[in-house]
Amino acid sequence: MKILTAEFVISAAAAGQFPKDNKPHIAFAGRSNVGKSSIINSLLHRKNLAKTSTTPGKTQLINFFIINNAFYFVDLPGYGYARVPHAVTDAWAPMIEGYLKGTHQLAAVVVLFDSRRSLDERDKRLIGWLNQYDIPAIYALTKHDKLSSREADQAFRNIAAEPLMRDLLIATSAKTGKGIKELWKRIHTCLGVAG
Ligand code: GTP
Ligand code: MG
Repeated sequence: MKILTAEFVISAAAAGQFPKDNKPHIAFAGRSNVGKSSIINSLLHRKNLAKTSTTPGKTQLINFFIINNAFYFVDLPGYGYARVPHAVTDAWAPMIEGYLKGTHQLAAVVVLFDSRRSLDERDKRLIGWLNQYDIPAIYALTKHDKLSSREADQAFRNIAAEPLMRDLLIATSAKTGKGIKELWKRIHTCLGVAG
């Protein structure tokens, strides 16, 4: 896809602040530090439009970006970062769940998993939950560049074998650009855009 414009819209803490038009949303979800913000930048060919950090828990609000004035990328806060104070962690789940359940414009959720880790309970709960509510999901492994090709193949096979994953998994790297084209292809399909 040719990116003509990509602009930050709002960091929303509550549903009342979400954009109210009918343009479709592509949301990005996954554990803290998995690389959600980085993959958004990589898809958009931007360095730091979505703020990234080596410190997990960087994205704590729901950040909306409008692309080509046609659809939104939605950077969701990561789950599972223990060092964030409990009051904050506890606020996350309902906020994310509220967003996912309440957004009729949701075209797909891109769920990211770190190539170096196995899935945890929250990953599995999210996968099951998207399936249960019939929300289109795109699954991607991040940080492919951090593994040897043998390790990366093994990681791919392990996670691809998880229930409900089927052939939906894509190996990606925000650093090398691996898998970004394929990811765009899936996003296009979900947006109903040709090419
Ligand atoms: P939260 O907002 O805290 O939930 O994190 P996030 O999922 O948005 O992760 P973010 O994109 O901020 O990346 C976390 C760290 O991983 C940063 O230091 C990134 O530079 C690094 N990172 C992300 N993707 C890649 C990748 O593909 N390869 C490598 N080598 N590092 C990556
Ligand atoms: Mg982030």
